Amino acid sequence: MPASDHRSLVDGARRAREHAVARFSGFKVGAALETSGGLVITGCNVENATYGLTICAERVAMFKALSEGHRAFSRIAIVADTDEPTPPCGACRQILWEFGGDLEIVLANLTDEKGVYRLKDLLPLPFDARLL
Ligand code: THU
Repeated sequence: MPASDHRSLVDGARRAREHAVARFSGFKVGAALETSGGLVITGCNVENATYGLTICAERVAMFKALSEGHRAFSRIAIVADTDEPTPPCGACRQILWEFGGDLEIVLANLTDEKGVYRLKDLLPLPFDARLL
């Protein structure tokens, strides 16, 4: 997809980022996950006092979507307020792969799109249900 076609998904992630609960790191992240039917489900990171129970924006978006019955996805946009783009962490790559497959991953900040990747390139040789 040309960069301009990601604009509304990226804007959704930018809006979701404003809800981030990031009082410990101050690092706010937003994600916007698109279903194969074109619906957009958003998420933000949610931190808490144990630190370790923090959940990233990407997993919030995916778990929200699954809990609402969605099972097929095409793209996810991830936004942070950084010059270097923020790629999904290892835990998020695993969850996105298991439930979203080879998603298109759009990385952006508050003003620009920074790159588009395929999840299979970010998570080579994945472990998943096919191996159980
Ligand atoms: N975080 C995300 O939400 N997504 C990412 O892709 C990277 C990290 C969050 C987790 C934590 O709340 C904060 O960013 C700093 O790691």
